[in-house]
Amino acid sequence: METLTVSQKMTQAKDFLPINGTDYIEFYVGNAKQSAHYYKTAFGFQSLAYAGPETGVRDRASYVLQQGKIRLVLTTALNSKSPIAEHVKLHGDGVKILALWVDDAYKAFEETTSRGGKVYMEPTTITDEHGEVRMSGIYTYGETIHIFVERKNYNGLFLPGYKQWNSNYNPKDTGLLYVDHCVGNVGWGRMNPTMKWYEDVMGFVNILSFDDKQINTEYSALMSKVMSNGNGYVKFPINEPAEGKKKSQIEEYLDFYEGEGVQHIAVATKDIVKTVRELKARGVEFLDAPPAAYYEDMTNRVGKIDEDIAPLHELGILVDRDEEGYLLQIFTKPVEDRPTLFFEIIERKGAQSFGAGNFKALFESIEREQAKRGNL
Ligand code: FE2
Repeated sequence: METLTVSQKMTQAKDFLPINGTDYIEFYVGNAKQSAHYYKTAFGFQSLAYAGPETGVRDRASYVLQQGKIRLVLTTALNSKSPIAEHVKLHGDGVKILALWVDDAYKAFEETTSRGGKVYMEPTTITDEHGEVRMSGIYTYGETIHIFVERKNYNGLFLPGYKQWNSNYNPKDTGLLYVDHCVGNVGWGRMNPTMKWYEDVMGFVNILSFDDKQINTEYSALMSKVMSNGNGYVKFPINEPAEGKKKSQIEEYLDFYEGEGVQHIAVATKDIVKTVRELKARGVEFLDAPPAAYYEDMTNRVGKIDEDIAPLHELGILVDRDEEGYLLQIFTKPVEDRPTLFFEIIERKGAQSFGAGNFKALFESIEREQAKRGNL
């Protein structure tokens, strides 16, 4: 068993819930208009669709942005009694919905709720002049939701109820292509039950595990298990804090998000040097580069790679290898004032893993930021 590669392990997933990929990621935020501007300006997302008072929606406004296959929805409440306002009050800006593209949203609901999934949205069909979308939804960790979206009979822009968002401010994209994985942080003792939930309710398979002996620094530790669906299009690593001399970064997240939730969204590019250079020029803040020794030792550690090492060093891009290839990755600082959600930019050159060889350098960098915030 342990000698199987990640790709081989994925084939062991159960097939009762076929998923074609991530459909959209919806954030609940304090000010969707300004958040949308940030994701356009800094990350190069493009204006796609809008719903709000002008489209007959009275209690919220939602801006839909697209880049490659990535769709972000930024939603804000229009009154204090809205559950969206309550969510933002408790958690700050954060991810509410990880929506999954399925062939049959009604069947997805049946299969998952009959296996213990907690109902968020009963199966629903919504229509407009472009056809129909069928949706349903269940809760996952914390207050986070999986919505199942079936859109095979729909040819509109996004979902019924949304109109095209025409903007005369259209910064160019930064080469982001698709969602590679989305990581959840859960509380003490909650990693294994959450892993089992993904196995039992969603038919996912555990493709990688890291314990606190592998992921630790002088001060703190965490544990992580990566869950994947069968085709590998949807991967959800789950982190839990572990005891260390000081406060784990996962604990800091749980304290400031005031609960479990999405820690980071990894987005893929096929030219990480170009993408990261552009993101930096637009003001996206990344964690500090590891010490020079990391780059001096790189060829010994990961073998020969296609890229020149100098620009990787200059930008602070990390490299790791597994038995199937290598990957390049870099992490932003949190994109809110609460130290909660951040982004990862990743370029895969065959590797199907998540950069375990970088964990130590990465976490030491995160801890330097935690210390600046007085939270270590
Ligand atoms: Fe990641």
